[in-house]
Amino acid sequence: MAEAPLRIVLVGFMGSGKSSVGRELARRLGYRFEDMDRRIERRLGRSIASIFEEQGEEAFRAEEYREAASLAGLEGAVVATGGGAFAQAKTRDALSKGALTIWLRCDLEAMRRRLPADGTRPLAGNHVIMQALLAQREPSYRLADITVDASEGTPAEVAKRVAHLIEQRTTESRHTDR
Ligand code: S3P
Repeated sequence: MAEAPLRIVLVGFMGSGKSSVGRELARRLGYRFEDMDRRIERRLGRSIASIFEEQGEEAFRAEEYREAASLAGLEGAVVATGGGAFAQAKTRDALSKGALTIWLRCDLEAMRRRLPADGTRPLAGNHVIMQALLAQREPSYRLADITVDASEGTPAEVAKRVAHLIEQRTTESRHTDR
């Protein structure tokens, strides 16, 4: 990869800051920002919570895969994924194809503090449930190309760190490409 990646995909647990950091990162790079969950909601005309409630998680995961596949041709974009997307093998493959994937790693406590208790995230239960879900998903998040610590700092600060790591990686691969 000699130039800046055409698509950057942010992965990680609920509350790790994928959407807020993604928006800042897109602004820095002059890319457009896409949020997978918001795209699903727009396409189906209903909220994520109501999809879970009325059709169940499996139906949501199918829509999530469909959305990931539809992003494949997108260029010049930063994509924020839902917290479970990268833990589904098929969806992860679709998201990874032709993209640079970035895991926003974050302390569980920091993520819990950021999550509103408004019922918009059906899988954000109590501490024990979230801890178990995180442990189950971490091996998948680790498969991302780059890991960034997102526990501290504003979204703009984290986006700056991400941009630096992308720059570093792009420069390094330019050297090895020669
Ligand atoms: C989910 C995370 C949510 C959303 C859905 C399921 C998960 O996205 O996709 O509620 O399985 O962790 P955020 O990570 O943006 O909260």
